[in-house]
Amino acid sequence: MSEEQHPILNQLEQIQQDALAVLETAVDEAGITAWRSAHLGRTSSVMTVFSQMGQFPKELRPLVGQRANQVKLALEAALAEQAERVRQAELAQKLAAETLDVTLPGRPQTLGRLHPITQTLREIYRVMGEMGFQVYRARDVETDDYNFTLLNIPPHHPARDMWDTYYMTTPGMVLRTHTSPGQIRAMREYAPDPIRVILPGMCYRYEQVSARSEIQFNQVELLAVGKGITFGDLKGTLTDFARRMFGQNVRTRLRPSYFPFTEPSAEMDVECFVCGGKGCQVCKSSGWLEILGCGMVHPKVLENGGYDPREFTGFAAGMGPERITMLRHRIDDIRYFWSDDVRFLEQF
Ligand code: DAH
Repeated sequence: MSEEQHPILNQLEQIQQDALAVLETAVDEAGITAWRSAHLGRTSSVMTVFSQMGQFPKELRPLVGQRANQVKLALEAALAEQAERVRQAELAQKLAAETLDVTLPGRPQTLGRLHPITQTLREIYRVMGEMGFQVYRARDVETDDYNFTLLNIPPHHPARDMWDTYYMTTPGMVLRTHTSPGQIRAMREYAPDPIRVILPGMCYRYEQVSARSEIQFNQVELLAVGKGITFGDLKGTLTDFARRMFGQNVRTRLRPSYFPFTEPSAEMDVECFVCGGKGCQVCKSSGWLEILGCGMVHPKVLENGGYDPREFTGFAAGMGPERITMLRHRIDDIRYFWSDDVRFLEQF
């Protein structure tokens, strides 16, 4: 039998033709994978020729091997080409399906913003920071002692009625009704060094929620303690604060008042920035807006803080950022601040 006549050689030729004919029908990735295992896999016709080489006459084996190899290489090359065609076709299809209209108008990004109270608080920090006051954070849950007694408001004293208090179930503990207890904490930490701090934070009062009062609100307390601090320093600092906060030309005034922890005590008004002092609804025709309580730290309070009142004096003040924000933006209801209403919040 001559070499050319051995059926295996024709068979190899046939294997190649059949495989190539079917390859045309592999038009996606799955088809390509299936074709690869059917025509080049371990049990495929061409691979079987290699594993059964022993069946062929010895002198024919090199030729059969060479031809089988050529078939295998041809199939591999054809497969690579077809796979690339499929990849390109799938890509083209995807691009056509996912066309992007670059002329469409973009969707505007909505920017987050700071809560109006946060904005006011930060402004107060900035202004007071420029004057050398550091932020000191005290606790929201206080002892009755710090919230009242150490501030010269002993148990059963009628002045306690100024603050409607949330009492904790733990005896002797309250939610602070004002930031003033932080004065004692700051003094006890720094005495006998001089201090200049502001104490911001949330306060709580057991009150009827209304347009004018919330049960939860912020205060910022100011405290300066040192040797030779006078009422003049208090007035100068607060006047400067008001100018930096509300404008260089704003007029201010101090009115006598009463707080147990300061002596003398006062309240500061700023000229109504709505009507410029002429009288309007916001200032209730008075031309003035009250923005804070203040005074010279009471000797007993200094003593409770660890300072000798014969050597040291100090001034303190307390203000409400909600009230200041309401006045500035003419907000007529304090409940908006907790309302989570974006129509309100977006205006700031
Ligand atoms: N703690 C007072 C209140 O909540 C406000 C206050 C008044 C604070 C006078 C002070 C001050 O430091 O000197 O009503």
